[in-house]
Amino acid sequence: MINLENKVVVITGGNSGIGLETARVFRKKGARVITNARNAQRLKETEAEYGEIFDKVLVADLTKTEETSKFFDEVGKAYGRIDTLFLNAGVAYLAPIDQITDELYDAQFNLNVKSLLFSVKAALPYLTKGSSILINTSINGRIAMPGSTIYAATKAAARSISLVLAGELVDRGIRVNAIAPGPIETPIFSKMGMPEETLKETAASIQARVPVGRFGKPHEVASLALELSTNDYITGQEFVVDGGMSAL
Ligand SMILES: NC(=O)c1ccc[n+]([C@@H]2O[C@H](COP(=O)([O-])OP(=O)(O)OC[C@H]3O[C@@H](n4cnc5c(N)ncnc54)[C@H](OP(=O)(O)O)[C@@H]3O)[C@@H](O)[C@H]2O)c1
Repeated sequence: MINLENKVVVITGGNSGIGLETARVFRKKGARVITNARNAQRLKETEAEYGEIFDKVLVADLTKTEETSKFFDEVGKAYGRIDTLFLNAGVAYLAPIDQITDELYDAQFNLNVKSLLFSVKAALPYLTKGSSILINTSINGRIAMPGSTIYAATKAAARSISLVLAGELVDRGIRVNAIAPGPIETPIFSKMGMPEETLKETAASIQARVPVGRFGKPHEVASLALELSTNDYITGQEFVVDGGMSAL
C-alpha cells in the first residue's frame, strides 16, 4: 500500500486531463499536491473546482521563464522540498506542413520543450535525494502522424531531454522517466482549434488506429505516474501507454 503522506508533489497543468487525474491519484495517497494555473482566471476556476485536491495553486505561464522560476521558488519557500515533479503541461496543434506558422511552432516548442528545461533548472534546489521527475511525452514522438510535425518534434525532444537529465541527475539521487501516452480522452483535442466536424473525424481516424479499439482514460496514465514516482529502481526510461498503437 503506497502512502505519500508528507510527500510534496508538483504537477504542471494539473487543472485538466491527465494532470488533474494524476493529482487526484496522488492526493488520495496522502500527498500534498501543488499545481500551476496559466493565468489569474484559471487560478480562480481551479481553486473553485478542485480546491480539495490541491494544497496550493499558483499562477504561472510556463512558457515564460521568469514565471517558471517564480513558481518553483514559491513552492520551495512554502514546502522546502519537492519529492515528485510531473512535468505534464503541454499543448498540441495539428497542421499540414504547408500550413504551419511561427505561432504554432513557438506555442508548442515554448511549452512542450523549453518549459521542461527551465522547470527542472528552477526546481533543482528543492528536489530531494530520492525524488523523481516524470515528463509527459507522447507516442507522437515515435510515430508518423500526418499534420503533427511540430508536435511530434517537441515530444521527441522531450524524450531526449528526459534521457539526458536521467544521466545528469543520477548522482544526485534524482530519477527521471518519461511517460508516452497514446490517444487519451482529455480536453486537449477540443483546444486544437478545429471545427467540431473535423474534430470528430480526426478522433474517429485516430481511434481506428488503436489496436485495443478505444481512447485511453486519464487514470491509465495516472496510475503509471504513481508507480514510476515510487519505484526507486527505474530511471532513464520512456514508458508507452497507448493501447498498442505505436507497436502493433
Ligand atoms: N490527451 C492525449 O491524447 C495525450 C497523448 C499524448 C500526450 N499527451 C500529453 O499529456 C500532457 C497533458 O495533456 P492533456 O491531454 O491532459 O491536455 P489538457 O487537458 O489540455 O491539459 C493541458 C494542461 O496544460 C496547461 N497549460 C497549457 N498551456 C500552459 C502554459 N502556457 N503554462 C502552464 N500550463 C499550461 C493547461 O492549462 P489550461 O487548462 O488553462 O489550458 C492544462 O492544465 C501534454 O503534455 C500532452 O502533450 C496527451
